[in-house]
Amino acid sequence: MSSSVPNSESSPLGGEPVVITQTAEWAALRAHHAELAGTGLRALFAAEPGRAEKLSAQTDGLFLDYSKNLVTAETMRLLVALAERAGLAGRVEAMFAGEKINTTERRAVLHTALRAPEGETVLVDGENVVPQVHAVLAKMYAFADRVRSGVWTGATGKHIRTVVNIGIGGSDLGPAMAAEALRTFADRSIQTRFVSNVDGSDIWEATHDLDPAETLFVISSKTFTTLETIANAKTARAWLVAELGVDAVPHHFVAVSTNAEKVAEFGIDTANMFEFWDWVGGRYSMDSAIGLSLAVAIGPENFAELLSGFHAMDVHFRTAPLDRNLPVLLGLIGLWYRDFFGLQTHAVLPYSHYLSRFAAYLQQLDMESNGKSVDRAGHPVTAATGPVVWGTPGTNGQHAYYQLLHQGTTVIPADFIGFVAPPHAQVGGSGAADQHLLLMANFFAQTEALAFGKTAAEVAAEGVAPELVPHKVFTGDRPTNTLLAPKLTPFTLGQLIALYEHKVFTQGTIWGINSFDQWGVELGKVLAGRIIPELAGEEEPALAHDGSTNALIHRFRAGFAE
Ligand code: F6P
Repeated sequence: MSSSVPNSESSPLGGEPVVITQTAEWAALRAHHAELAGTGLRALFAAEPGRAEKLSAQTDGLFLDYSKNLVTAETMRLLVALAERAGLAGRVEAMFAGEKINTTERRAVLHTALRAPEGETVLVDGENVVPQVHAVLAKMYAFADRVRSGVWTGATGKHIRTVVNIGIGGSDLGPAMAAEALRTFADRSIQTRFVSNVDGSDIWEATHDLDPAETLFVISSKTFTTLETIANAKTARAWLVAELGVDAVPHHFVAVSTNAEKVAEFGIDTANMFEFWDWVGGRYSMDSAIGLSLAVAIGPENFAELLSGFHAMDVHFRTAPLDRNLPVLLGLIGLWYRDFFGLQTHAVLPYSHYLSRFAAYLQQLDMESNGKSVDRAGHPVTAATGPVVWGTPGTNGQHAYYQLLHQGTTVIPADFIGFVAPPHAQVGGSGAADQHLLLMANFFAQTEALAFGKTAAEVAAEGVAPELVPHKVFTGDRPTNTLLAPKLTPFTLGQLIALYEHKVFTQGTIWGINSFDQWGVELGKVLAGRIIPELAGEEEPALAHDGSTNALIHRFRAGFAE
């Protein structure tokens, strides 16, 4: 740990970040946390009648109520001061301006340029990248229209009925999540499937019931070297060639990548390659050409709406004062629990069936970005960094793990995400509308119960037998944010994703870490590369691993050979 509080940006790795735990602002928060200890949400609401109005913010219809958190107006003031001390405003500008803030990879971080309206200027090494972005978007939209209208056909002239995206991590999770989230906007005559796992069961399940003549594969990989994706792409090609012959490949395979050479090497016509750039991180790429399968599913207009939602949140993040800035508020509140309460996990609980993949998407966004133990300059961090992010849609979780949320010994801060209007009109008369009320009644009930609980006196007053009273007590003070949007639309989804992107950036900035590299995924990849030939060869290999790994490989080989 350094003994001073440096903040120079002169070194090639972005300079020494502020050692945030050594600042007066951090110390003030520590003291404030101690003062606040034992003050629960019942007391906070009682002391402050206008609390819900004061501790809420909104932008473009997206409303955040953060009053059910263990914070006061003073907490928020101190947290904002901490963000200022970490130089958040300057870092935000550096990101939007295309400075190479991904210092370990010496890259700009410009996912925000992917949704910049035509006519804006974003410079990377002196070149305006916005025209390139819009050129690729135009190419994607034209392609999506051709597939949707049947102008693009398979090798035998049949219409494409299924689009299979093959990719992993950022080349899968975003479009897969959004294709599910926006199903009500999709052309149901074309199915979209996603294959990511190197487990051959994934590609088998995705293809075994399809007609190759009606199937289009989108091979999505920024590097076009990822083991899982290339293995699945080869299997897909063999499956197609077995039925239609090798000449059919260009009609059934397109690629999304930054690596034209590898795409051509794979046998995909680079005319059918949709490009993106090294200044787009994998987990920040769903609004680049990585969204191609999604654009085919929902159509260009809806895809453009999604981008508008992203952009609206970008503008809000860049311009709103920190104390009314939704991503900043979520980031600060999350950091408050992670660093001052020592809480290790954060739940994201959407009350929408269509957001079933949202938490899985956020896991990569948040945990690959902020799961770091050294700061930007390579020094060990002095504060706890990114939490474990998890969640599934309500109300299913209520019948599974909410017991622990309400009465467990671990406090889990949670974001509840809900919508005023149901996504589509009716299923069987007025069913959908009625069921939406049931869904949302649960949505509101849960945050109320988590916040305010039920005291022993209240339980006893209901006539509960004394020996059962402790079992029926809810301590409350389980903090939540409520995000309420008018309806799940492409625009709203774009807003929500950008909200979390910028939340992650806010936290990473305060922790002084680089949220845009992912060196932690490398070691496993290298070791797997070493083990592959050891599993496959006929001769017993000379294994040079630890005793456990050697024995496991021997055991596997013996069983596999049987
Ligand atoms: O898991 C590491 C990672 O590099 C992610 O960051 C990325 O999203 C994923 O692999 C896929 O990479 P690619 O798009 O290059 O295939």
